[in-house]
Amino acid sequence: MSGHGTPIPMTSRTGGALAGVAEVPGDKSISHRALILGAMAVGETTITGLLEGEDVLDTAKAMRAFGAEVTRDDDGTWHVHGVGVGGFAEPDQVIDCGNSGTGVRLIMGAMATCPITATFTGDASLNKRPMARVTDPLALFGAQAIGRSGGRLPMTIVGAADPVPVTYAVPVPSAQVKSAVLLAGLNAPGQTVVIEKEATRDHTERMLAGFGATVTTEETNEGRVITLTGQPELTPQAIAVPRDPSSAAFPVCAALIVPGSDVLVPGIGLNPTRAGLFTTLREMGADLTYENEREEGGEPVADLRARYSPEMKGILVPAHRAASMIDEYPILCAVAANATGKTMMEGVKELRVKESDRIAAMADGLRACGVTVADGDDWMEVTGMGPGKVPGGATCASHLDHRIAMSFLVLGMSTLAPVSVDDGSPIATSFPIFEPLMTALGAKVERT
Ligand code: S3P
Repeated sequence: MSGHGTPIPMTSRTGGALAGVAEVPGDKSISHRALILGAMAVGETTITGLLEGEDVLDTAKAMRAFGAEVTRDDDGTWHVHGVGVGGFAEPDQVIDCGNSGTGVRLIMGAMATCPITATFTGDASLNKRPMARVTDPLALFGAQAIGRSGGRLPMTIVGAADPVPVTYAVPVPSAQVKSAVLLAGLNAPGQTVVIEKEATRDHTERMLAGFGATVTTEETNEGRVITLTGQPELTPQAIAVPRDPSSAAFPVCAALIVPGSDVLVPGIGLNPTRAGLFTTLREMGADLTYENEREEGGEPVADLRARYSPEMKGILVPAHRAASMIDEYPILCAVAANATGKTMMEGVKELRVKESDRIAAMADGLRACGVTVADGDDWMEVTGMGPGKVPGGATCASHLDHRIAMSFLVLGMSTLAPVSVDDGSPIATSFPIFEPLMTALGAKVERT
């Protein structure tokens, strides 16, 4: 089993205002997909702006194991020589996806309709997470999965030698499940149809179309119906990965809760399936503006400007918004603790099966910092203490979860006493430059 090596305890504390420009790294979701789709195209895909975090590097390694040639130039440009749809070779080693649910679930989908067998594992966090949500639909294509109890990794997938196309209504709001089915559908003859009740991030659909697949999306009474025509020849692409809104969330939220701050976070994708946090923050009264709004690669993009916002009020964050900000609830909790009044988050059950149980992890750490939190299976409520009034002074457990670690470190930039996390090493999975970037803005965050 892989791990993150030696734990890195970290501490943050209040300091001066945060100011400057925060250039966050490439989008994690798009980076995984660029490598996987590049590996399934015929010829050379080039990728600039790829997130070079551990999760994505594990996917790059996996694509090599399935036969694609993946190289990096000194200037950070990546090249993927793909093997074509259905062309994956059988890996001769176990595929270790580290901490990444996206990596393992998308790759399982991509190989499930190839006549090969592969075994997957991950770190202690990933090996606890549910995989049946992907292996159930992959079985409909004719693939078999043999894993540990509860449908957990390590797990072996025997790909379907003679795949059939599938129509599948995704039972949980999950872009990973949707994407696994679509990637499997690439090597099935005929049309594969995925129906999702709630819209989740649509990067796979957009990128499949960009690579030349025939994919349509229709809004119906049952939800979004996505139809993919199987066995296309994917054409290699030149992909410029936009900056990650989920990483932008950290400097943006830090600026909102640290007195006097004014931070610009340029070039952030505002795809509506990803931008729920920013809508929520503006509803709370955040001084968060979109500057220089434009389109890049078919996606809406803007420079985000966040200024200290002591007037923020707690609100009800509706369940229908959950999918568009599913990774941002931990950092929203840090903002909510600094707002006035209660912030109620509904329809957030999926948080229980992320890199950690994020409801439990945030509730425990916030309570240790002196914040009142109520929670149930599918909801969470944080009672705001007003700007700069959170006591802090605790060490919070990050549970091998990058977003939990970063959320408590941002909270500590606003609290009366410093906040520590027991292990900041998972931050490298998605935001390897978090510490220098926040420090350059003026934040007091250090390894302890
Ligand atoms: C992702 C989908 C989401 C999200 C994850 C990235 C993706 O997971 O939490 O960080 O790239 O498809 P779910 O599909 O489990 O909701």
